[in-house]
Amino acid sequence: MSTSRRDFLSRTAMAAAGTVGVGAGETARVPGDRPVPYQPPKKPIIVTRETGDTTVAEAYAMLEGGADTLDAALHICQGREDDPKDHSVGLGGLPNEDGVVELDACVMHGPTRRAGSVAAVQNIRHAALLAKTVMQRTWHVMIVGKGAEQFAVDEGFHRENLLTDDARKIWLFWKEHGNGWWGPGLDSPDWKPPAIGSPTQGPMAMLMPRHPAPEYAQTIRDTMRRLSAMAERMGIRPELRREAALQVLWPTTGTIHVSALNTKGEMSGATTTSGLAWKIPGRVGDSPIIGAGCYTDQDIGSAGATGNGEENIKVAGAHTIVDQMRQGATPKEAGMEALRRIARNYNNDMAKLRYLDMIYYIVRRDGAYAGVSLWSTRGTGVRKNFVVHDGVLRTEPCDYLYEGTTLSIHPF
Ligand code: GLY
Repeated sequence: MSTSRRDFLSRTAMAAAGTVGVGAGETARVPGDRPVPYQPPKKPIIVTRETGDTTVAEAYAMLEGGADTLDAALHICQGREDDPKDHSVGLGGLPNEDGVVELDACVMHGPTRRAGSVAAVQNIRHAALLAKTVMQRTWHVMIVGKGAEQFAVDEGFHRENLLTDDARKIWLFWKEHGNGWWGPGLDSPDWKPPAIGSPTQGPMAMLMPRHPAPEYAQTIRDTMRRLSAMAERMGIRPELRREAALQVLWPTTGTIHVSALNTKGEMSGATTTSGLAWKIPGRVGDSPIIGAGCYTDQDIGSAGATGNGEENIKVAGAHTIVDQMRQGATPKEAGMEALRRIARNYNNDMAKLRYLDMIYYIVRRDGAYAGVSLWSTRGTGVRKNFVVHDGVLRTEPCDYLYEGTTLSIHPF
């Protein structure tokens, strides 16, 4: 469906269904309209990131069969956490700068209005399920570090080393060739753009067809070639060399978020990640922060994020989005507002915003949805996208704030 049509239908549905800020079966009023009862969607809906596996279809079948929305969301999270080739979550996640995998996750359960979260937890693969266990088995919302690991073991979780051989090799490669740079931050008055070039004529220029800068394109091509040769010398297998080189230049902030809504109008959200690759040990991103990496209020909607956690924390992104929808915004408008707040934090300075990335995944309780991104394309020039399943499983392009490709975090 085209995004303009999606937005039109979203607005129309909101006006018709009076969806603003009421519970299932209650009555709502959109300004200027007669009150109408809220109708839950006729079909369940899931919005998430591309997974490359069958878990989204399976989770959808779970919803159709009456499973709890959080259990369906966790099914998708666990598929990624179990996949050693997915270097953004669980087993095989990229480690911190000491070579230790530290996971962050949170969940929100709409029907019971509860939340759970874990941060910087080591040796426990299913961080999202652990967050649910915090929600179910304690009076706490968030447990971190060693305490979270001990809690997991006490609750019967299996303790294991999450650093796979591939992830260890990429980490060793980064140790050898990365610059270990973590400051000053992009938001610091002392931050300077890297000497390699301006954001529109930078090292990613070859990947930004709209901003060609041949001399820098050549620099990055040469650098990638050099890094790939070094990766070969370090015994990294061919399929992994490009990723190792990219992870030196642009450490990942990969994450998975899932929002799920059923035909009773029940919703849940879950977010899980190994966080920023090569982070300072103990660094916590947005993924376990209720209101940043995930927020679900089933009277309104659910939202979650992948991207630069620090920026998302500063705008309380997921909560901002749900709150915008509470005030009548469509999912797309709500997501764009959160992105604009990130941009505003940098006075819309493109020289800095070039280094940031964010995607929000959004579902409103009537089934309207959106995926929005700060930038239009990935490093490969491919349009940023998200996955939706509402009876038909498909990938849709994100609506975006800026056209172009993010440089991700500080290169070189
Ligand atoms: N969004 C994941 C992170 O920044 O940790």
